[in-house]
Amino acid sequence: MLGVFDSGFGGLTVLKDLVKKMPGYDFAYLGDNARAPYGNRSFDSVYRYTLEAVRYLFSLGCPLVILACNTASAKALRTIQQKDLPHIAPQNRVLGIIRPMAEEVGNFTKTGHIGVLGTEGTITSQSYLLEIAKFWPSLHVKQESCPMLVPLVEKGLLKHPATEMFVEEYTKKILEKSEKIDTLLLGCTHYPLLQELFLKALPKNVKILSQGNIVAKKTQEYLKKHPEIDKRITKNGKICFLTTDSAEFFEKNATFFWNSSIKAENITILQP
Ligand code: DGL
Repeated sequence: MLGVFDSGFGGLTVLKDLVKKMPGYDFAYLGDNARAPYGNRSFDSVYRYTLEAVRYLFSLGCPLVILACNTASAKALRTIQQKDLPHIAPQNRVLGIIRPMAEEVGNFTKTGHIGVLGTEGTITSQSYLLEIAKFWPSLHVKQESCPMLVPLVEKGLLKHPATEMFVEEYTKKILEKSEKIDTLLLGCTHYPLLQELFLKALPKNVKILSQGNIVAKKTQEYLKKHPEIDKRITKNGKICFLTTDSAEFFEKNATFFWNSSIKAENITILQP
């Protein structure tokens, strides 16, 4: 199985594209719904929770875990890769979803000015700025945190006037930072669900970049380059959905993120 982790439901927007691109693979999706959202949590909490989830997915037999959560990718990935992985499972891999976006973003802008929206945790970590600078040093990057959007999406208020107002507010703020921005990277897994509101709020010349498609393409490329990992991932076209909250809660609310009905399983993540 290929493990896909998110704080809650948002990673389903990434899983959708992974399944589309790699339909033969088995996937284990784990949402830490009982402790979501992660966006405003401390570095230490996000790191601890994410490590617990990664260990859990390893224990199920996933040789590769994708942190399909920007906040976890920003605050926990590096420490897990450098400090924990060599001890707990040197043969396994953990990848995030910020680097694949950073590698690609420069291919989309004409003006060389891009905007990044994300949770408070993702934005204050500066991860996007640092990663993008590695691949595209001449790009001008502005960022803005959007703390109200995840709670509104989690509540299913996708078209609510309050959500529309906040989307307008955040897009206005980022465009005020640079009027040359022509590419807006949605650096949070929940934001693709607000695509219509973003399109409405943005001038026509600004393109929106979501993560699912790009992360799926990059994962496929990674597995081609790493056949030793790929061959350890089972391939029967099965998906299992795991949640730290109740299965009923997950099945009901996942409908905003996933088109068909879901059978979920409640799990308890043990402390390492
Ligand atoms: N999935 C998270 C992300 O992409 C957002 C949800 C949260 O704050 O937990 O940043």
